[in-house]
Amino acid sequence: MADGFARFDFTPEVEAATAPLWERVKGRVTPLEWQVHAPLIARINSLKREKNAVILAHNYMTPEIFHGVGDYVGDSLGLAREAARSDAKIIVQAGVHFMAETSKVLCPDKTVLIPDLRAGCSLASSITGADVRLIKQRYPGLPVVTYVNTTAEVKAETDICCTSANAVQVVEWAAKEWGVDRVILIPDEFLARNVAAQTDVKIIAWHGRCEVHERFDVADIAEMRLAYPGAEILAHPECPEEVLAAADFAGSTAAMNDYVVTRKPKQVVLITECSMASNVAADAPGTEFIGPCNLCPHMKRITLENIHEALVKEQFEVTVEPALAGRARLAVQRMIDLPPPAQPARYDLVKARHHVDVELI
Ligand code: 13P
Ligand code: SF4
Repeated sequence: MADGFARFDFTPEVEAATAPLWERVKGRVTPLEWQVHAPLIARINSLKREKNAVILAHNYMTPEIFHGVGDYVGDSLGLAREAARSDAKIIVQAGVHFMAETSKVLCPDKTVLIPDLRAGCSLASSITGADVRLIKQRYPGLPVVTYVNTTAEVKAETDICCTSANAVQVVEWAAKEWGVDRVILIPDEFLARNVAAQTDVKIIAWHGRCEVHERFDVADIAEMRLAYPGAEILAHPECPEEVLAAADFAGSTAAMNDYVVTRKPKQVVLITECSMASNVAADAPGTEFIGPCNLCPHMKRITLENIHEALVKEQFEVTVEPALAGRARLAVQRMIDLPPPAQPARYDLVKARHHVDVELI
């Protein structure tokens, strides 16, 4: 093959081509592992150029994917914005299925690929379009704000989407726009509870949960405080409200990243998916990452091997029925068009107003 990377050997050419990437991951990937990853990374990066493809990689991808082949990396909001801006012909979503659907909804003319169709999400599978139609019948006249962690079918029934980075801003915007004091925020119960503690808008919530974040417990935080009294503890808003109340800061994966990179804590605990710490570490050389983390089995289905396969065979294409995509696009685009918040959402107020009730459907 013309680029010389056809065979997956760790040749001097591969080593030279991937040397700057090795510098980013060498604290988290062993030299032996790199000899396996580097030839694939070189080949994938060359295929992207040949095929005019980009890879959108979520913060929960393993470091060899995130730093090795991701063209755009970030949280759900950042990736949705990048998908909308991209002029590539092919988008490979290194993330889960709802993210690929969001990219397709925003870019109907592009080919959107997901390397493993089984990369789902417990939040996205907690609710259907029919459920949302029933909720709307039960609460007529109230705006429906939907977390991006949902299928396109659910987004299509929705007024506006949000992510964990902008949920408070979107809920307040919707209440003002509709002239109401109650907003439906679905499907993540914990995100809804954590947003409720940040705003005077009353929240009606669904009982969906992230299987990764719901498993964290206040006991995890108490243990960390005892063992590492100086450590700063950051938690994702998909965690239970008591976990957020016990943490020092909470925010989306992008907000956690910004916190660590700008505040440079000596020791930090990231109460979220395990790859988060591995990926931030490259930009936070003076920080020690400690403490518990949980793996997302869906995110972990994406590997360098299946990304390579996806580019070679142009599989697995994610499609969304055009009329449904059009309706879902309105909800996602409305979110994207809101001005970015001056600061990423902070959930510190959870401490002051701990346990604000939501109406759970
Ligand atoms: P954010 O990257 O938007 O914080 O979301 C985390 C997540 O669980 C995505 O699946
Ligand atoms: Fe879904 Fe949670 Fe995995 Fe994100 S981390 S994809 S919300 S199950």
